[in-house]
Amino acid sequence: MRQEVGADRTLTINSGNLTRTTTKVDFEIKYRVLQTALKGYDMIGVEVFTPGVQELIYGREMINKLHEYTKKSAIICANLAYPAPGIEPSRLFTVNHKKILVTSIFDPKFEKKAIHGLKASDPIAALNKALKTPHDLAIAVLHFSDNKARNIIRRVAGLNIAVLATQRGVFRKIELIKGCCLVKNNNHGKTVGYLDWNFSSNSPTRLKLVKVEKSTFKADPKVAKLVDEYEQWLRKHYIKKEKQEEETLNEKAAGINYVGNQACGTCHPKITASWQTTRHARAYASLQKKCKDYCPDCLPCHVTGSRQHNKKGFQSPASTPNLFNVQCEECHGPAQDHIKDPKLNYGLKIDKKTCTACHNSNTDPEFSFAHDLPLISH
Ligand code: HEC
Ligand code: HEC
Ligand code: HEC
Ligand code: HEC
Repeated sequence: MRQEVGADRTLTINSGNLTRTTTKVDFEIKYRVLQTALKGYDMIGVEVFTPGVQELIYGREMINKLHEYTKKSAIICANLAYPAPGIEPSRLFTVNHKKILVTSIFDPKFEKKAIHGLKASDPIAALNKALKTPHDLAIAVLHFSDNKARNIIRRVAGLNIAVLATQRGVFRKIELIKGCCLVKNNNHGKTVGYLDWNFSSNSPTRLKLVKVEKSTFKADPKVAKLVDEYEQWLRKHYIKKEKQEEETLNEKAAGINYVGNQACGTCHPKITASWQTTRHARAYASLQKKCKDYCPDCLPCHVTGSRQHNKKGFQSPASTPNLFNVQCEECHGPAQDHIKDPKLNYGLKIDKKTCTACHNSNTDPEFSFAHDLPLISH
């Protein structure tokens, strides 16, 4: 990535918020995600990690562990109200003979969300204190909303670059507030932002956003291995959890009114054969290939009865393996009653919403009901 912009010396900063997961809080996973990410940063030479709200809400326990996970990246946070091992309020980096001060503050409002009591000190006082260290350039990562961040910038003197870490999106243009340059690059790791600085005029000269795409960036083999190990670990973790919850899951599976598509073939052989040629019939295999066949973040759209109708279909890979893939009942609804007494007027309430439960703007931005329906029709 450094080669991409042609800079011989870049200072790399990661603004945190790595541990967001869509499933309910599972500390083992959170720790493992952080551990993997920080190890990966060491491998590719990321110099600064500033914990974000997603890490901070897990309180002291998480914060105290951070330093165990990284050997090289500095962990920086200026307004923690108590000392945490390995976390520095700020650090000076020498880049091309210039002293670059890097610091980070977070919004005390997040204390309320914190699970295991994390205390913040006054962010502005902490920032002002950090800025006292003599430097040529000062960068602060602000874990605040846009508006609050802008207010802070107006109230401190001598900050050159503010990195907004909390709000989603990217700044494509350089924006200055009281001479301080605002940058925002919170795009889930899909872009990297570069900023060139002119020390004589003390101002930014160029902001460049580089998209991180598989076609332009090759995966570092060591990092790829690390990610692979994480995926393997996660899969085992989910299997372990499923075993622990086996009884409840089996009970739930016994109560469902989905029958699985084996039950349709005898009376609807042509349609079943036609369905088998669609990718819906191979949706679970796609997860297996990615080592995600136990992942609760992925399963709902690659199985049957987890999203629509009464959502009482798929429970877990071990208890409901007959509901893998996007089967008939995903679109037509539970068929328990229909197979007992087959007749018309079952399961034809299908419209665009049936599909967009899974084909949404994230997973399938080009989805069009008119175009895609004929592709799966039978
Ligand atoms: C909100 C629903 C949804 C979720 C959640 C979801 N997928 Fe999918 N997935 C889809 C849809 C829709 C498609 C088909 C998109 C297309 O190719 O037109 C798809 C296609 C795929 C494919 C095959 C096409 C390809 O890109 O190679 C793979 C593999 C895949 N998903 C893996 C995953 C994994 C891994 C996860 C979890 C991290 C996941 N999916 C979570 C809806 C989802
Ligand atoms: C992705 C959604 C989807 C899946 C999966 C699906 N269907 Fe359908 N099915 C439809 C839609 C939409 C229609 C309405 C007619 C059309 O446009 O094809 C339909 C129509 C039907 C009809 C009425 C056909 C007619 O000629 O009147 C039957 C019977 C049927 N499906 C059975 C099945 C069976 C059996 C399976 C599984 C092997 C299945 N469907 C899988 C969406 C689906
Ligand atoms: C014992 C035979 C039998 C089985 C098993 C069966 N069906 Fe049917 N299905 C029928 C009959 C008969 C009809 C009436 C219309 C027809 O002749 O196609 C029908 C109609 C339908 C319709 C269309 C309803 C309408 O108003 O046009 C759908 C959708 C459907 N079946 C889906 C399924 C699905 C999904 C399964 C498997 C879970 C399934 N069927 C299993 C016999 C069966
Ligand atoms: C439960 C989630 C889910 C629902 C509901 C769903 N799909 Fe899909 N669909 C998928 C997934 C997942 C894939 C990709 C499977 C794979 O390749 O692994 C897919 C693939 C497809 C594909 C093949 C894409 C391609 O480019 O080859 C078409 C077409 C499609 N779906 C149309 C529809 C339509 C139309 C509906 C509504 C009637 C619908 N789907 C409902 C999850 C869903």
